[in-house]
Amino acid sequence: MDSRQSSNDLTSEQWNDCQRGDTPLEKPVSERRTTHKGIIYFALIFFILAVATLSSRRWGFRSPATPRFHDCGHTPTEARRRGCHFDVLSFAWQTPECYDRETTEAFRTHSGTWRFFADVDGEDMRTEDEALTGEYLTTFVTAQFHWTHCTYMWRQLHRAYASKGFIDEHLDNWNHTLHCQAVLLSPPVQEKMLDVNTLGRVIYPRCRKIW
Ligand SMILES: *[C@@H]1O[C@H](CO)[C@@H](O)[C@H](O)[C@H]1NC(C)=O
Repeated sequence: MDSRQSSNDLTSEQWNDCQRGDTPLEKPVSERRTTHKGIIYFALIFFILAVATLSSRRWGFRSPATPRFHDCGHTPTEARRRGCHFDVLSFAWQTPECYDRETTEAFRTHSGTWRFFADVDGEDMRTEDEALTGEYLTTFVTAQFHWTHCTYMWRQLHRAYASKGFIDEHLDNWNHTLHCQAVLLSPPVQEKMLDVNTLGRVIYPRCRKIW
């Protein structure tokens, strides 16, 4: 605005009026271009700020309903660091959203204390405390554990869809439902209930938001 040469056709008075903005004189072309550029830059900066604000809301300041992690990693240490819990009902490390403490606890105390074994012969016993650490890759349990597991998975499935709004991929697997139906349709005979015939393998299922 310091160059009067660019407005040769205006008298000094007109120029001053123009600067005050109370004379509807057209600005020189070069100046109009500058104004358009200014608008474009302003729009660009506004757009960048808007995107930055929205993404910081999404990634920086999450609402409590948004999970921090979708699974518990691959090791118990990693799982604990992610705030996960070991779910003895499925031998699964669960994210906070998918951990159903109520169902898991009801299962844990369903009939006294479950018996856990390091070997398939059922000789090397593990305490419940040991089993609940989730540190053992494999654990052997009884036929009764397996049968009862399926009935509690049914409860957990119902709660996941009806009240929790999150489900882990193990519970959500149609194959698992078919498997449990088969188990429930051909229950172990009473005298076989305490047989150690089921292998529990520790899993790290992904947790999915249902609604
Ligand atoms: C379910 O079982 C079928 C048949 O064995 C297999 O092809 C499919 O990959 C399984 N699905 C999942 C999600 O495990």
